[in-house]
Amino acid sequence: LDRGPAEPDLAGRHVVISAGGTREPLDPVRYLGNRSSGKQGYALARTAVARGARVTLVEANTGLPDPAGADVLRAGTAVQLREAVLKAAGDADVVVMAAAVADFRPAAYATGKIKKKDGQEPAPVALVRNPDILAEVAGERARPGQLVVGFAAETDDVLANGRAKLRRKGCDLLVVNEVGERKTFGSEENEAVVLGADGSETPVPYGPKEALADVVWDLVTARLG
Ligand code: CTP
Ligand code: CA
Repeated sequence: LDRGPAEPDLAGRHVVISAGGTREPLDPVRYLGNRSSGKQGYALARTAVARGARVTLVEANTGLPDPAGADVLRAGTAVQLREAVLKAAGDADVVVMAAAVADFRPAAYATGKIKKKDGQEPAPVALVRNPDILAEVAGERARPGQLVVGFAAETDDVLANGRAKLRRKGCDLLVVNEVGERKTFGSEENEAVVLGADGSETPVPYGPKEALADVVWDLVTARLG
């Protein structure tokens, strides 16, 4: 793939990107997690560095090597990710929430390992809602003109679900993936439609996650003041 040298069209901009998936601990050895690999978020970080941005990458449980030229912060849980993203967003021009944030966490954390007991059924796991980081960042806008980008994996009526989610979250752009076999999770490739709050719809054909990342940055730079 040859797109030539990147234009430094994000020079002087601070972009904050979250990547990976949060893990919500149940006891010292167990957690609720998800299958996000973090690869799309890392592709966003690499391409943003290539386009001249100062990049803060908030990563959750990816195990991926740090992208050259990005400041990397680590978060394990949704609550930790929220803290790191809100702090970094304070002076950001763009915030991209590519991380898969667990919607729920166990209501209680057992400080000792949960053990089986002979002849006893397991206790149900009570869950509570996690904060919605994207909605919070989009609703608050730490800086005037700050752009906020979300991601969504959808099934069924993918575009209608995406439009509704874009409105609900209050973000400027929403990258919508259709999930299915071979698609998205852990793969090097992705296919998406990027929806804009301005009504725009940008289809991105199946291809490398870098190509989708560059389309996101094209749409972002067109909207930055
Ligand atoms: N997101 C977030 N905080 C959460 C949940 C999601 O910031 N607690 C962000 C994700 O990083 C992503 C976007 O919101 O950018 C959409 O995530 P998604 O799971 O599709 O949205 P939900 O509102 O959780 O909707 P659903 O019930 O379909 O999971
Ligand atoms: Ca969710």
